[in-house]
Amino acid sequence: MDNRPIGVFDSGLGGLSCVKEIMRIMPNENVVYFGDTGRVPYGSRSQETLMKYVRQDIRFLKTFDIKMIIIACGTASSAVLPWIGDEVNTKIAGVVEPAAKAAAAQSRTKKIGVLGTAATVRYGKYVDEIKNICPEAEVFQKACPMFVPLVENGYANSEVTKTIAREYLEELKDKDIDTLILGCTHYPLLKNEIREIMGEDVLLIDSGMTAADYALKVLKENDIQSDEADGTYKYFVSDSPGDFARLGGIFLEKPILENVEKVDIEKY
Ligand code: DGL
Repeated sequence: MDNRPIGVFDSGLGGLSCVKEIMRIMPNENVVYFGDTGRVPYGSRSQETLMKYVRQDIRFLKTFDIKMIIIACGTASSAVLPWIGDEVNTKIAGVVEPAAKAAAAQSRTKKIGVLGTAATVRYGKYVDEIKNICPEAEVFQKACPMFVPLVENGYANSEVTKTIAREYLEELKDKDIDTLILGCTHYPLLKNEIREIMGEDVLLIDSGMTAADYALKVLKENDIQSDEADGTYKYFVSDSPGDFARLGGIFLEKPILENVEKVDIEKY
């Protein structure tokens, strides 16, 4: 038993897709969430910059005496986690491995698509993980750099997003995939648009959700689950809280009633 919080971070709103699943499957866990809204998007940054950002994000979360960190960001999980995992000194999980495992297990045809940011596609970690588990799999990646700014600015369900989604997904439609990893945690908010284009038969894997499932497994295996009646949630951002609570409520499918606080992340 361990009632310390789980620290979850992302470049912005996307990691809330992981928090949503934490609320569902482990409602008694306390969560500290950090969205690096002052420096979003991560997907177009260099590895050097991402290393700096992620180290600062982790240092900030560690001020809360957390028992585990979830990097609820496909970009940071691909371009940073494999290089810094050992220096963190706390249990840590990214989104790549759990989503890759779920896709490899659930795909019948072993033709799998991966949507992600430019950095995620460049590092190809989803492909590596899937091929590790299932060498015969055919994996098709597609970078969707416009999706994150659209979601962060509240355009998730707009005509412009549908048009851009059609453009991005066009080439995947010919590949005959039966499983598609939403390899960026912002993309579950575009599930309906993506499903409409790809068709009902293509299984969508929500990488935020599978990361939360994996985290629960780690907590159980280490006997460090919380025994509190109800979990509490603290939300921090690195820019003005502005619309974070409103848009975040859409991600969580329930309102964020807690105060969203601004933190000067450069101090960490
Ligand atoms: N949610 C982040 C991810 O999973 C978005 C990265 C970005 O800010 O570009 O990759």
